[in-house]
Amino acid sequence: MAPKVTAPAVLARKGGSKLKMVTAYDAPTARIADRAGADIILVGDSVANVVLGYEDTLAVTVDVMVHHTAAVTRMNPQALVVGDMPWLSYHSSTTETVHNAGRFIQEGGAGAVKLEGGRKRLDMIHAVLDAEIPVMGHLGLTPQSVHAMGGYRVQGKEAQAAYELISDANALADAGVFAIVLEGVPDVVAEIVTNEIQVPTIGIGAGVNCDGQVLVFHDVTGLGAGEYLPKFVKQYAHIADDAVAALEEFFADVESGAFPSEAETYHMPAGSEEMLRDLSSQSSDILADEAMER
Ligand code: KIV
Repeated sequence: MAPKVTAPAVLARKGGSKLKMVTAYDAPTARIADRAGADIILVGDSVANVVLGYEDTLAVTVDVMVHHTAAVTRMNPQALVVGDMPWLSYHSSTTETVHNAGRFIQEGGAGAVKLEGGRKRLDMIHAVLDAEIPVMGHLGLTPQSVHAMGGYRVQGKEAQAAYELISDANALADAGVFAIVLEGVPDVVAEIVTNEIQVPTIGIGAGVNCDGQVLVFHDVTGLGAGEYLPKFVKQYAHIADDAVAALEEFFADVESGAFPSEAETYHMPAGSEEMLRDLSSQSSDILADEAMER
């Protein structure tokens, strides 16, 4: 069996074979991602909108994220499991940040955490790294900043904004993150970052020049309930449609009596059925006699 993927192993892949990352939020999606050969499974805070029905990612807490992370790690995947630190869990103090990051490791069984933001999060990143917890960065369209960004918009489209993003990437790399997710940025910005920094970049809506790519499980497999798919998603299957077709067939079989068939039915051992039928007809005779006497 191949060894488990670790954060240093991901870092060592810089410029090598492309890193394959996908989200998973529970045991079955983790098992599928691992069987398919994911290097990294991200327990993303996108669980909020993808699975839990919220509008955005802001509603989920550390408790919720750790609960989902533990479900993923119970499958013992070969992939590195990265827990996504939710909004407000790494914003107020380094002490609280380290405590929250530690919960992903101790209770969730993750091998690393991810947090969003650039230079303004450096103190928190240093503190988590000092606690020996590997950190993955996340720059560009950072969904936890949806209100500050005024919506989900491609970031770094203007030269100055792109320059700031590249500076953020350099700062995170210097701080010691083992990889950086680049989300929703023009391809040339991702290309410059990828060429400049010594840690792998993992793109989502960031063009082909990153060191790896990530997509949300439910988007790539067509399991999602939502109608809207961002431009950067390529859907490789239509699992939700297949599931609807399967359930329609099941319900039709229930209506027609075709389900359950012999194959799905339990029987009593030879002799027991007859004995039971005798007993039950005797007891109904006794009950009928008692009713007559009354
Ligand atoms: O939560 C998530 O799914 C993410 C990916 C989009 C990178 O952060």
